[in-house]
Amino acid sequence: MEQYIIKGGKALAGEVCINGAKNAALGILAASVMTDDFVTIENLPDVRDIHVLLQAIESIGAKVERVNRHTARICGSTISSVVVENEYIRRIRASYYLLGALLGKYKNAQVSLPGGCDIGSRPIDQHIKGFEALGAKVKIHHGMIEAEAEHLTGNHIYLDVASVGATINIMLAAALADGQTIIENPAKEPHVVDVASFLNSMGANIKGAGTDVIRIVGVTKLHGSTYSVIPDQIEAGTFMLAAAATRGDVTIRSVIPKHLEAISAKLVEIGAEVEEFDDAIRVVATKRLGHTQIKTLPYPGFPTDMQPQITALLAICKGTSIVTESIYENRFKYVDELARMGTNIKVEGNNAIVNGVAELTGASVCAPDLRAGAALVIAGLVAEGYTTVEQIYYIERGYECFEQKMRELGADMEKVDSEDNKAIQKFKLKVG
Ligand code: EPU
Repeated sequence: MEQYIIKGGKALAGEVCINGAKNAALGILAASVMTDDFVTIENLPDVRDIHVLLQAIESIGAKVERVNRHTARICGSTISSVVVENEYIRRIRASYYLLGALLGKYKNAQVSLPGGCDIGSRPIDQHIKGFEALGAKVKIHHGMIEAEAEHLTGNHIYLDVASVGATINIMLAAALADGQTIIENPAKEPHVVDVASFLNSMGANIKGAGTDVIRIVGVTKLHGSTYSVIPDQIEAGTFMLAAAATRGDVTIRSVIPKHLEAISAKLVEIGAEVEEFDDAIRVVATKRLGHTQIKTLPYPGFPTDMQPQITALLAICKGTSIVTESIYENRFKYVDELARMGTNIKVEGNNAIVNGVAELTGASVCAPDLRAGAALVIAGLVAEGYTTVEQIYYIERGYECFEQKMRELGADMEKVDSEDNKAIQKFKLKVG
C-alpha cells in the first residue's frame, strides 16, 4: 500500500498552481453526455474520482477520449444503456449525476443507490423530490434508483436543505424539461455555478445560479461545447492553511480569490497575512497564530470540506478554538488520528474544542477520508520527526500530485510503498 512519509518542520515557501475543481468537473462530465455532439472539457484535475466517473460514462456507451492529462472529449451519441452499475457509485457517489443527466436526455435512468459514507449518512431525498416535481416516477428497486417520465415538465421546487448534489441533479434534468423550473434555496457553491455555466454553453437557459433562486427554461436540445473547469477552491484552501501552519510564505496561483474569502477571513483573524491578486493569493505567517471560532455552512460560509484542515491548523495555534460542523454528523473521525501527533482536541457532538498545543510529534496515522487525509498531511508537515500517512488513496481522490506540489514548496514528503523499507530508508537518509 502506498503511503506518504513526511519529515515535518520546514516552512513552505514558493508558488503552487491549483488544478481544476473536482466537484465542478464531476457535474460537468455528467452533463457532457446530454448532447449527441462532441464536448471538450479542459482543466480537469487528474485525480481518481474523475477517472472513475469517466469510466462510468464509458460504461453506458458514450465515447471518451483523453486528449491529454487535463482534457477529455466526450460524445453521448453512442449511449446504449441508461443503467449505471453499483461498481461506479460505490467508488464515487457523484456518479449519481448521471441520473439527472440521463433522465433529462432520455427520460429514463437507473443508477445504483449510494449508501452513507465516511463522513456521515448522506440522504438523496431532495434529488428524488426534485425529479418527482418534474414529473418523473422514481422508485427504489433492488438497490437501484429508477427514474422514468413520459415528459419532464418544469415546476417550482423548494429545497429543504441547500444541497449541492440535489441542485446540480435537478438543474441537469430541468435543462431539457418542458417549460420553466424554479429552484428555491439552491446550493450556491462555485461548482454549482460552473455546472450551470457549462450547461448554458451547451445551449441551456439557466439564470440565477449562485443566488437564492435558480430559473431554468427547458430547451429541446443541447449542443457541443468546449469548456474549462474553474480552479479548485478546496485544493487552494488546503495549500493556504498548509502555508499558515508551517509559518511559510506561499503564493497560490490559478485561483479565484473571491471563492476563498471565508478561508482568507479566518486566516487574517488569527494573525496571518493574506494578499489577494487577480488570480493568485499569497499567505504569509511569521509567528504562532491565534484562536477563533469556525462554523461550517453552505457557501459563502466556511466550507465543510475545509473543516479538518483548519482544525489541524488551530490545533497548533495559541488558545482554545471551537469548530462546529453543521453539514455532516460524522466529520470529526480524524481527531483520534491527530491525537497520535499530540493534539488536544475534544469532540462533543458536532463541536470540536481545540486546545492549541505548542508542538506536534510525528506519528503513523491513517487517513479516514479525503479532506481528513489532507489535514493529517498538514499536521505532519508541522510535526517534529517523521509522520507516515496511510490510506492515501482517499487523498488521491481529490488532490493531484499532492506530495509533488508540497515538495516543490520545500516540504520533505514522499510517496512510498509501505512495504518498501529501502525507499523509506532512502527518504530518511536524504532528509537527515
Ligand atoms: N442532504 C439531504 N438530502 C439530500 C441531499 C443532501 O438531507 O437529498 C444533506 C446532506 O446529508 C448534508 C447536506 O444536505 O447534510 C449537504 O449535502 P450536499 O448534498 O450539499 O452534499 P453533496 O452534494 O453530497 C458535495 C460535495 C462534497 C461536499 C458537500 C458540501 C461533490 C461531489 N461533493 O456533496 O464534497 O462536502 O457538497 O459542500 O460535489 C469532498 O469533495 O471531499 C466532498 C465530500
